[in-house]
Amino acid sequence: MRKKLVVGNWKLHGSLVENEKLLDEIATQLKDLRNIDCGVCLPYPYLFQAQRKLANTSILWGAQNVSQFLAGAYTSSVSAKMIADFGCSFAIVGHSERRSYSHESNQKAVIRIKRAVDAGITPIYCVGETLAEYGLGQTKKIIEAQILAIFGLDAITLSRAKAVGLVVAYEPVWAIGTGHAAQPAQAQMVHHFIRALIAQHDADFAEKVRIIYGGSLTPVNACSLLIMPDIDGGLVGHSALNALTFKAICEMAAHTHELCEGISCD
Ligand code: PGA
Repeated sequence: MRKKLVVGNWKLHGSLVENEKLLDEIATQLKDLRNIDCGVCLPYPYLFQAQRKLANTSILWGAQNVSQFLAGAYTSSVSAKMIADFGCSFAIVGHSERRSYSHESNQKAVIRIKRAVDAGITPIYCVGETLAEYGLGQTKKIIEAQILAIFGLDAITLSRAKAVGLVVAYEPVWAIGTGHAAQPAQAQMVHHFIRALIAQHDADFAEKVRIIYGGSLTPVNACSLLIMPDIDGGLVGHSALNALTFKAICEMAAHTHELCEGISCD
């Protein structure tokens, strides 16, 4: 049984003052949640704040990216070792906003996966098709290339990725920030496809890997997605900026069967 995981992706939001409040609210709202892993990924400058505020809670924190470089003359880069200094559990890798604004390729994303796992950090590897690709019926082809890139990593890195519990986030680009989440059956189909692709290389890893869904996840649609057998949690953007909506999604993930039984899967 895979433990569900819900991670808030704060993107380019927040300030010292706002974060102080939101982190306090999240810590209070989530303090009684059990049987689930919850976390938030903040902009780099505020990682120290998460470390200070969340250190004595069960809430984890992480960064929204990690450099492909270890160290050296790479102005503006932030290494895996640096984010590890701030107690990060996670680093998001290959988010579609990075892929589109910074032309991040699958190859670069998997180097970032390597940097993260070498530093003991769990990568949350984002995959997903654009609206145009979806329209052309290319979803599986795109996802396949994104997932198979992981298996280009060397054996030691792959075993480290397993050890730190690499997470895959399926985020259809057309669902991110649009208010139109994927239909549960469609998302389940892709999650199952991802698990099957991983199983072709490593059946044990495929059973254990958490594949979370992202893209306009809200308290209104979370139940119908989280109840799907291959959806192991969520990567939450907009709804993670409010402690109550974030809590509602985390609760549904923690108690899916009690709270979501009978929800329509259409
Ligand atoms: P959204 O963002 O929930 O605001 O759609 C999700 C993400 O980009 O990770």
